[in-house]
Amino acid sequence: MTTQNKQVAPAKGKLGILLPGMGAVATTFIAGVHAVRKGIAQPVGSLCEMGTIRLGKRTDDNVPRIRDYVSLAELDDLVFGGWDLFEDNCYEAALEAGVLDKELITQLKDELSAIRPMTAVFDPAYVKRLRGEHVKTGTSKMHLAEQLMEDIKRFQADNGCDRLVAVWCGSTEVYREPTAVHATLKSFEEGLHNSDDEIAPSQIYAYACVKLGVPYCNGAPNMSVDIGAIQELARETRTPIAGKDFKTGQTLMKTILAPGFKARMLGIKGWFSTNILGNRDGEVLDDPGSFKSKEISKLSVLESVLQPDKYPELYKELYHKVRINYYPPHGDNKEGWDNIDIFGWLGYPMQIKVDFLCRDSILAAPIVLDLALFSDYAKRAEMRGTQEWLSFYFKSPMTAEGLYPEHDLFIQLMKLKNTLRHYNGDGLITHLGNEYYD
Ligand SMILES: NC(=O)c1ccc[n+]([C@@H]2O[C@H](COP(=O)([O-])OP(=O)(O)OC[C@H]3O[C@@H](n4cnc5c(N)ncnc54)[C@H](O)[C@@H]3O)[C@@H](O)[C@H]2O)c1
Repeated sequence: MTTQNKQVAPAKGKLGILLPGMGAVATTFIAGVHAVRKGIAQPVGSLCEMGTIRLGKRTDDNVPRIRDYVSLAELDDLVFGGWDLFEDNCYEAALEAGVLDKELITQLKDELSAIRPMTAVFDPAYVKRLRGEHVKTGTSKMHLAEQLMEDIKRFQADNGCDRLVAVWCGSTEVYREPTAVHATLKSFEEGLHNSDDEIAPSQIYAYACVKLGVPYCNGAPNMSVDIGAIQELARETRTPIAGKDFKTGQTLMKTILAPGFKARMLGIKGWFSTNILGNRDGEVLDDPGSFKSKEISKLSVLESVLQPDKYPELYKELYHKVRINYYPPHGDNKEGWDNIDIFGWLGYPMQIKVDFLCRDSILAAPIVLDLALFSDYAKRAEMRGTQEWLSFYFKSPMTAEGLYPEHDLFIQLMKLKNTLRHYNGDGLITHLGNEYYD
């Protein structure tokens, strides 16, 4: 196997993490990092903080922690900033989100109160259920992008950050198909000057960050870094980009279960998934336009894991349905319920029911941390454009044109670890294992 034994610049100095959207996920992430720093909690769910990586043969017993194997920013070196259309500081926003215990949030009050969102670029046509006063005005969408770039530079200078990354934690925008304005950088920049209606706020953030060479990860199903214009800009500015839609809850379960059924050649007739959730995200997704973005992101998973064209007898007839129901009493504690109709030997039917009583933002927060740390690593390793090795974290992983995405969580994990081995100049692990028997 070829490996690249190039020096990756070490993670020295402060890393600024910019979060467009400072609601439940963002504040749970920030509060969590502060809690870990203070030694009052563990970073459970973070591969960067808790994961290990095997090197060499199984008999070598060489399994360092990922954090000791590659140079990643230290939690003590992270600085947080971002934008929101509500001006609540992170302490108030964390209380409002209601994910973490009040007692824990109170212990972090000083750190969280000091983080105040910058004014947002927002357009209610893209998120119908929200209205906010804390928003920028400008003569054109390009003017708004320029203001974001000023914010980014000011944040970096004020906080003495050596490097920056951005992770979109804002609401899900309404579904729109890409148009000619998104196709090339030239058409997109013209569109910004002309305030083209088809340019979404999330795309303006993506443009501003990537233009300044700030790695950008997209946690929502919006189209933002997966348009031709931003991909061109990412190549030009040598910036890593990744997306989209954090893989948590029900889709995480799907990409754990479905590869297992397929591995054993078990058929699936139907997969009905419904979600009950009561946070602001649930309220936004109650709007059919925003739900459409989410539905597309959630539906593509099974089709691509199961490959019905290759296994028509097993998966051609699969009926897949996904529902999201806004139900305020559940707050951030989502219930993801699945009914799976499978069949086995001679076509005999069986059923599986999964009732995942999960906590959305608790599952998403470590993903934000890992994406921030790994996309900063990617930048230092001089990777640019789409970072497919970060598919592990996304419901709808971005790929090079013409490639189908890998949704299988275990293939994604292998890809991620092999990418780290590759950039560190170590042999890749193929699991062949013939050498143990020669
Ligand atoms: N929690 C999960 O498990 C999970 C999984 C996958 C994706 N996501 C996505 O992550 C995003 C955040 O989820 P959440 O639960 O924190 O939602 P939330 O509603 O609590 O927070 C989103 C925040 O974004 C802000 N916002 C919206 N548009 C903005 C803009 N243009 N500029 C700046 N701020 C803006 C809102 O005011 C809000 O405070 C959502 O898009 C959600 O769909 C979450």
